[in-house]
Amino acid sequence: MDNYHVAEKFDKIGSSLLDLLKEYYGDPGSKPVIQYKSKSDIIADYHRETAPDDGRPLEDVIESFKKDILPYSVHTWHPYFLNQMFAGSSFPAIIGDLLASMMNPTLATWEMSPIATLIEQNTAQWMAQIIGMPKGSSGIFLPGGSLSNLLALTIARNRVLDPNIRDCGLSDERRGAIICSEASHYSVAGAANLLGIGLNQVKKVKVNRRQEMDVDHLQETIQQCRDESLKPFVVVATTGITVTGGFDPLGEIADLLKDEDIHLHVDAAFGGGMALTDQREHLFGGIHRANSLTWDAHKWMHTPLTCSVLLVPDPEILEKTFSQKADYLFHPQQEKLLDDLGKSTLLCGKRFDALKIWLLWNTYGTSHFREVANERVDLMRQINQIIKADPDFVSDYEMVSPILCFTYQNSLIQQLKEPERTLYSNRMHRYVRESIKHSGRALFNITKLNGKDQFRMVLINPLTDLSHVRVLLEDIRSQCQAYSE
Ligand SMILES: Cc1ncc(COP(=O)(O)O)c(C=O)c1O
Repeated sequence: MDNYHVAEKFDKIGSSLLDLLKEYYGDPGSKPVIQYKSKSDIIADYHRETAPDDGRPLEDVIESFKKDILPYSVHTWHPYFLNQMFAGSSFPAIIGDLLASMMNPTLATWEMSPIATLIEQNTAQWMAQIIGMPKGSSGIFLPGGSLSNLLALTIARNRVLDPNIRDCGLSDERRGAIICSEASHYSVAGAANLLGIGLNQVKKVKVNRRQEMDVDHLQETIQQCRDESLKPFVVVATTGITVTGGFDPLGEIADLLKDEDIHLHVDAAFGGGMALTDQREHLFGGIHRANSLTWDAHKWMHTPLTCSVLLVPDPEILEKTFSQKADYLFHPQQEKLLDDLGKSTLLCGKRFDALKIWLLWNTYGTSHFREVANERVDLMRQINQIIKADPDFVSDYEMVSPILCFTYQNSLIQQLKEPERTLYSNRMHRYVRESIKHSGRALFNITKLNGKDQFRMVLINPLTDLSHVRVLLEDIRSQCQAYSE
């Protein structure tokens, strides 16, 4: 089939594709973050009821992508893109993504991916070292933090709730509970659903205004589970809380669980990035007691989605929990050193995601990660000061990792009585965010926090500096002022 002879196609489309990449990455701030189109316009313009029967030249299809798709898509590679917990991939990681597609291996077996298996293992070990897990810790790369959390909670369930679950399934005698905070990521509840624990058995611990877990209430919650004849088999501590970037007090939680038969899972999907800064020891005290940990390199180690790792201090637990028999795939091995990674996960087609971070690491070194992360922390500190000093902007907390939630207020709003004040303020915040989004000037988020709608900006984009944030704050101020005139 001629279509599968790829090499000569590059001659034809190579230079125009390179031009496109150069243009996209070249001057990211020069275009709108997004050229907004309404949902109904998009459906009207793009929906096709049936698949194309005949194809057309690849050059044409790429041209359509360039003209019709790219301009109306969100430019995550833009200094005013602050909407998500990822932004701006590093160049070597982009190349790593491309090369992973080129190789297209599966890391399920050593036979298929000998060096890739070792690279994945090494990279996981480096991440475990950096975050401060005990010697010998390692893990497995997975497509996303939600999957890493799911596998971690599976390990916890089988290890602590009942080792028979793997073979016999859940029993009525030993009903389990997952304990996490009110602000933990929704993937924890998602895992409870998939693991047969049930959402009612996800027990939520109270949080402070930065959404960090109240350890006294954690202790009460453990007791409440026992009073209800439930076995609390895992506590999820979030380091880098999704909405606020806050850190559950890991050291205190680890101390509380020291003599308990409860698995400690640390969800550092976002906050793992803080382990690269001079704040690591302070924020990750107690990490040596973690039984598992989720860390997304696609968040602020700036690799393209997805690149998540599940780390454990005793890597054999992965195979013990997940291995299955598949004679067509897992063959006996003479050397037992590094087993097939497919036995340590749910995935059979296992992508070479680790190549992205490995390429980045080898190109720039750990010093690069530290420099970029510390730069973000400096930016965060400056913005903490700016917000504190500005009477128009109010944040409920000081940032400990770079996610800012804040509201705008003025004397007119303050004069209103509740509940009108909150209703008015919520409407204004939603309106202003939408209007800035539609203008294409910036994309940041909005969230409900402490009873009201608040702007939310994730400040990990390496292309965003203080001048961008200042411009955006002034934009928001003038939009809010105009709204309340
Ligand atoms: C704390 C936390 N855990 C887990 C996740 C899920 O990660 P992913 O989006 O990679 O599935 C997120 C996502 O934002 C998160 O904030």
